Amino acid sequence: MAVVRKILSLAGDGIGPEVMAATRKVMDWVQSTGHVKFEVTEGLIGGASYDVHKVPLTDATIAQAKTSDAVLLACIGGPQYDTLAYELRPERGLLRLRKEMGLFANLRPAIVMEALATASSLKAELVRNLDIMIVRELIGGVYFGEPRGIEDLPGIGRRGFNTQVYSTPEIIRVARAAFELARKRGKKLCSVDKANVLESSVVWRDEVTKLHKAEYSDIDLSHMYVDNCAMQLVRNPKQFDVIVTDNLFGDILSDLASMMTGSLGMLPSASLGAADANGRQAALYEPVHGSAPDIAGKGIANPLAMITSFNMMLRYSFSMGAEADLIDKAMQNVLSAGVRTADIVEPGQKPVGTLEMADAVVAELKRLAK
Ligand code: IPM
Ligand code: MG
Repeated sequence: MAVVRKILSLAGDGIGPEVMAATRKVMDWVQSTGHVKFEVTEGLIGGASYDVHKVPLTDATIAQAKTSDAVLLACIGGPQYDTLAYELRPERGLLRLRKEMGLFANLRPAIVMEALATASSLKAELVRNLDIMIVRELIGGVYFGEPRGIEDLPGIGRRGFNTQVYSTPEIIRVARAAFELARKRGKKLCSVDKANVLESSVVWRDEVTKLHKAEYSDIDLSHMYVDNCAMQLVRNPKQFDVIVTDNLFGDILSDLASMMTGSLGMLPSASLGAADANGRQAALYEPVHGSAPDIAGKGIANPLAMITSFNMMLRYSFSMGAEADLIDKAMQNVLSAGVRTADIVEPGQKPVGTLEMADAVVAELKRLAK
């Protein structure tokens, strides 16, 4: 009997429906192996939800997300929504979903596949075999801190303000997730902050240090200021194993790290909450890239970050590591064979479209599984 896994699929905006459709092909293949049955419900988020419901996320969709085993999300946003009131913008839907699901730990692995070492904007020798994991705090800090707002300053103009804030429990839970990951990997953790300027970072650094001493002294812990980290990531990325950092710094550093892997179209992510009494963990999987309105609808977007996000779902939510390994292998082989979407194409190669890339991965999966 196949186990049933309930997935909420949120394709969102821009290239979202295209990369989601590509990923469904890989999902179908996994299902065809007979061990699992995916019960997929489709929902709306971002501009797609606004167009229908006049809000970027409905309570009903949040409720569905909470009762699913995992949520698979593509991307949100588009220029047609840029002039909407702040609360109605697509980004608000995504941020609310993360918050309501309690997804405090955002895992963003930057892994350079051998075939793509030369596609990176950094020198191949700097990124070859790179495998770093950025753990970004996802539901705190300046993204959510109060007070926030925009107020009129009569006669002067306006004042926009936000609050960067972190408390002990918020720091400890994400640091713990990062230490645990480091323990399963290279046993090295770098905590990134701005403790030379920000009080929130002073507390961050103290709490991470205390937790290290109390429970994780087997891990090699270092601290780095975020400006230095940005520089070090470009100078010598392989010095890092796991990085843990706050919401805003993690947003920025993960886009930076993505270019090492060849393209923003290669970076997946997993966002995880705390485990409940039954060991069930709220989880959402989404690529790091945005909705790429410039290429939306053209069928040329790279679906690999989306497929890899699904792969993380297999690994982290469904304990299907063997299938995930096989999908990773299939993607590597396809890339090595020179099958490339436009963003990672190299001289002499002809780019393939979104669905063709997925078809190539599925064909390779069938070959490998024989
Ligand atoms: C990301 C994105 C989002 C963020 C946006 C779309 C709200 O940039 O997931 O990195 O800032 O978290
Ligand atoms: Mg971002």
